[in-house]
Amino acid sequence: MSTPGDAQNRDEVQDGEESQVEDVQASAAQSGSEDQSGDDAKSRGDAKSHGAAVGLQGDKITIRGGIPLVGRIELKGAKNLVTKAMVAALLGESPSVLKDVPNISDVRIVRGLLGVHGVKITDGEEPGDLILDPANVESAHFADIDAHAGSSRIPILFCGPLLHRLGEAFIPDLGGCRIGDRPIDYHLEVLRKFGAVVEKQPSGIRMSAPNGLKGAKVELPYPSVGATEQVLLTAVRAEGITELKGAAIEPEIMDLINILQKMGAIITVDTDRVIRIEGVDRLEGYQHRALFDRNEAASWAAAALATEGDIFVGGARQPEMVTFLNVFRKVGGAFDIHDDGIRFYHPGGELKPVIIETDVHPGFMTDWQQPLVIALTKAHGVSIVHETVYEQRFGFVDALVEMGATIQIHKECLGGQACRFGQRNFNHSAVITGPTKLHGADIEVPDLRGGFSHLIAALSADGTSTVSNVGIISRGYENFITKLQLLGADFDLEG
Ligand code: EPZ
Repeated sequence: MSTPGDAQNRDEVQDGEESQVEDVQASAAQSGSEDQSGDDAKSRGDAKSHGAAVGLQGDKITIRGGIPLVGRIELKGAKNLVTKAMVAALLGESPSVLKDVPNISDVRIVRGLLGVHGVKITDGEEPGDLILDPANVESAHFADIDAHAGSSRIPILFCGPLLHRLGEAFIPDLGGCRIGDRPIDYHLEVLRKFGAVVEKQPSGIRMSAPNGLKGAKVELPYPSVGATEQVLLTAVRAEGITELKGAAIEPEIMDLINILQKMGAIITVDTDRVIRIEGVDRLEGYQHRALFDRNEAASWAAAALATEGDIFVGGARQPEMVTFLNVFRKVGGAFDIHDDGIRFYHPGGELKPVIIETDVHPGFMTDWQQPLVIALTKAHGVSIVHETVYEQRFGFVDALVEMGATIQIHKECLGGQACRFGQRNFNHSAVITGPTKLHGADIEVPDLRGGFSHLIAALSADGTSTVSNVGIISRGYENFITKLQLLGADFDLEG
């Protein structure tokens, strides 16, 4: 492995998020070389310096609002499962086949990072099929890894698999949405417990496992999705037994466990957030159809409600969305469950205010609150959203206030139980007073889900809005422009 000594100095590891624009630009530039499936290090290494490329689907969209979204769209696999499933392929001794992979920039980033580590990735027969062949996994050149710095949070999950395969790993500075500090202390602590030696360097983290990785007893201070995945991806090949307490149990994690079991892992999910893993010597590739994207489903459901529309979300399923469906119904939305998807619609009548507290699964997901807030601006009365997962997930509401919404943000824990942010001066509770009519404005997308909520705001507003920086949305929403067209939205793209 080449050393990162010549790299430019960056901030502390957990502060390493680059500008979102650069992030989208880098991934768009990278998409130009995606078909080369990992064997053209030069073009990959240059990806970041091609920053002049524009966002994947245009940077600015002008929306003439007030038209109900009506029609049918189809989901693919969940962003928050697919990217981890791709990393799991590193653990197999034979190729894996992942189905229903969405064409989003987060997938392209992980594809590029696997490619620079020698994983050969090709498209399969059906659209959305990926074949991942880890036969020639190798240490990557620093420049190739560094080209992915600031692009995503997924690289931290490469650690366990790379330590098993190569005895060493180098992880670039991480990216992802700016919705809080998003430290990686749990991840590093977990890896140390397995026996990894962790060394922070100016441009990333270097790890080694001189004595191999051994099963460990781990207790997470908070049921972190990423740290739970870190334990799973490391423990399956570690020597001996791992016991994880305080695990996250999101459906995407359960689907990752399905994949690992197909590969040959032995994993038991007990009650009370305890997961036990018996390490095995060898894992094979898997064949798997990814769980549908329930965050995308909830986003389109929120769009149907706010625009007084009617959207059939093909591929959505009830079991993973029960909590969302309860709240959707309480606000005044209607849904019909079908074998092949869920129809979400505004049944007429007034929308009602609700009190929501975001939480880990099986609670109301943090990723659902941002899109749903637009419908709450139209509800008759006072709604409260208490965000308990991320400390800074209300950055998107300034634009909504500019559009006419009445939303106050508070530092106190409102509308529910005290959470870990209450005494720490974080603006993490929102009070939304409705109904208000939104009017068009020029707004800028701050993060992925906040960006989708801005789209909904513009689609449901009176008049014309210009939403800039929409390339960020393509990190997690496949073909959202085409879907908007299919649903009858009136807009123009620039950029
Ligand atoms: C995953 O992020 C998702 N991202 C997020 O989706 C999602 O919102 C989140 O889980 C919660 O469901 C991906 O799967 C790529 P966490 P993750 O570790 O794993 C704190 C979206 O829009 N924490 O469960 O990064 C952390 O700061 C995105 O699709 C530590 O303190 O989330 C947060 O407050 C956004 N130290 C809380 O735990 C750590 O080492 C939960 O984070 C790790 C986390």
